[in-house]
Amino acid sequence: TTGNAFVHHDERSGTWTVSGHPEILAALSDPATFSSNVPRLVGGDAGDDDGNLVQMDPPGHRKLRTLVSHAFTPKVVAGLEPRIAALTTELLDDMDGDVELVSQLAHPLPVIVIAELLGVPASDRALFRKWADVLIAGDAEFTAKDEDGAQKQRFEKLARDVQPMVEYLIRHAHERRAEPRHDLLTALVQAEVDGERLTDGQLVNFATLLLFAGHITTTLLLGNTVLCLDEHPEQAARIRADRSLLPGAIEESLRLRSPFTVLARVTNTEVELGGQVIPADQMVLLRVRTANLDPRVFARPDEFDPARDPNPHLSFGRGIHFCLGAPLARLEGRIALNLLLDRFPVLRTDPADPPVPLPSPNMTGVASLPL
Ligand code: HEM
Repeated sequence: TTGNAFVHHDERSGTWTVSGHPEILAALSDPATFSSNVPRLVGGDAGDDDGNLVQMDPPGHRKLRTLVSHAFTPKVVAGLEPRIAALTTELLDDMDGDVELVSQLAHPLPVIVIAELLGVPASDRALFRKWADVLIAGDAEFTAKDEDGAQKQRFEKLARDVQPMVEYLIRHAHERRAEPRHDLLTALVQAEVDGERLTDGQLVNFATLLLFAGHITTTLLLGNTVLCLDEHPEQAARIRADRSLLPGAIEESLRLRSPFTVLARVTNTEVELGGQVIPADQMVLLRVRTANLDPRVFARPDEFDPARDPNPHLSFGRGIHFCLGAPLARLEGRIALNLLLDRFPVLRTDPADPPVPLPSPNMTGVASLPL
């Protein structure tokens, strides 16, 4: 391994890792050099216009992002508040005795919200959960080396496993073409970029991204924040007494337990970063969770401080790919956690029945959280 403290090259895996806050900001601010089209390195490239926004580069990215931003405005998100509160209350009412936060609240709430937003029946949520598990299971460690074609095979297997979901989404999209409604799927089938409509493939890839990005991460955020409060009872008491501290607590949960631990990029050209020269066509892993502890940016980085201000964590990314769903995730977090604290005067983990961590190398969170 070579490199300075913040930029490393790992000979074994062939990847570069960046773990400093300013170094990651520099990479995220330069999408022309640090491409998001990661699959191209391992032969999984579906082209620049496949509709998977998070893996697209300019100019295709800008076109699609502009289009979907129109359907995903702050006004649309703010309008969801009463619905999110009603759904949370229903889910809390269904709890009796023992609480398992993930299955009873943290998973169903964001799934129902995103399903309702897209316009697919929330009653299909068992299906979404199954597909989400498939996607998490397929989320192997990023590496640039693929000598035996293992990564390519993994991509192909994942593509086969999610085929039922693809067919499901295409069926719903076709129904919206024939019969428009007031939902995001209709907005997407009707949307035009430079006079062009989205293809079925683009539409499905974007809807899949929303289903995945829009609910797994928020599930993790809810569980992670409850874990932070459990670890810091004195702060939890402060927050209970003064709910205006809750948004800051959610930001600290995002910072310390970033749901995505790492973002991946590929270099288009040779570039200098943190005093290192990275050649073209390299896999570069941006360790956002580590950068969130960078002492050059965060005083007392290990401390959970709901009053930390500013809190420039990188857990929603930065730059052109900055999380489109951040306002929604924050809103869901604030509403759900407020109502959860109201409902349970005491909310602690049980050492005899500990939380089960998520089986994914690139994500931070719990698969189950008994309380
Ligand atoms: C992008 C994190 C919730 C939709 C991103 C990125 C991050 C992220 C780090 C940037 C990826 C990159 O630069 O490579 C999170 C976290 C969430 C969350 C931590 C919850 C706590 C949501 C929600 C939605 C959503 C609720 C939608 C309903 C998206 C989309 C993108 C994105 C569409 C792609 C944006 C683009 O490429 O231009 N998210 N996200 N996310 N997120 Fe989120």
